[in-house]
Amino acid sequence: MTGASGERQMRRMTEEDIPDVIEIEKRSFISPWTRGMFAQTLESPVARNLVMTESGDIVGYVIFYQAGLEMHIMNIAVHPALRRQGIGLDIMKRVIESARINSVEECFLEVRETNFPAQGLYERLGFKRIGKRRGYYTETNEDAIVMALSLE
Ligand SMILES: CC(C)(COP(=O)(O)OP(=O)(O)OC[C@H]1O[C@@H](n2cnc3c(N)ncnc32)[C@H](O)[C@@H]1OP(=O)(O)O)[C@@H](O)C(=O)NCCC(=O)NCCS
Repeated sequence: MTGASGERQMRRMTEEDIPDVIEIEKRSFISPWTRGMFAQTLESPVARNLVMTESGDIVGYVIFYQAGLEMHIMNIAVHPALRRQGIGLDIMKRVIESARINSVEECFLEVRETNFPAQGLYERLGFKRIGKRRGYYTETNEDAIVMALSLE
């Protein structure tokens, strides 16, 4: 894994990508998604699963749902060794750009109250805090901050 930003590409996630994605997932979250959860989103007609690659290696991924005029970011992570190099920002900018093209009006997500890196990323993209979901993360009883970005 070089971290060179020269050949960064975003493409659809496939079944074959799931093991590499899960490696990143396990190192990124207290309650990582399982193989079954990723596989389920791959089959969902409203979900989009994308991976970011650099020189062919998966360096990050994002999963979101689009329903009508709304988009909901379900999961995003960047390989721990390659953070703070603009990959997360690059992934989100591309997702938002495609949302605009698809006439999405609002983009939503939930983020842990203590997840300051992710909150920093979303704020930088213009997301605003619009509410809280109490005890949303049941394994730690942590609240979620709900954030939204208006694309109109
Ligand atoms: C959140 C995450 C995807 C960010 O990915 P990244 O590639 O490291 O982010 P970027 O390098 O593109 O950072 C873009 C901006 O986000 C903010 N940011 C990112 N990491 C940050 C940190 N550790 N502390 C503060 N702000 C941070 C900064 O504004 C940063 O810009 P800067 O580097 O010019 O200051 C990554 O930290 C990650 O995978 N975390 C674990 C999984 C996770 O929490 N996902 C979000 C669930 S809601």
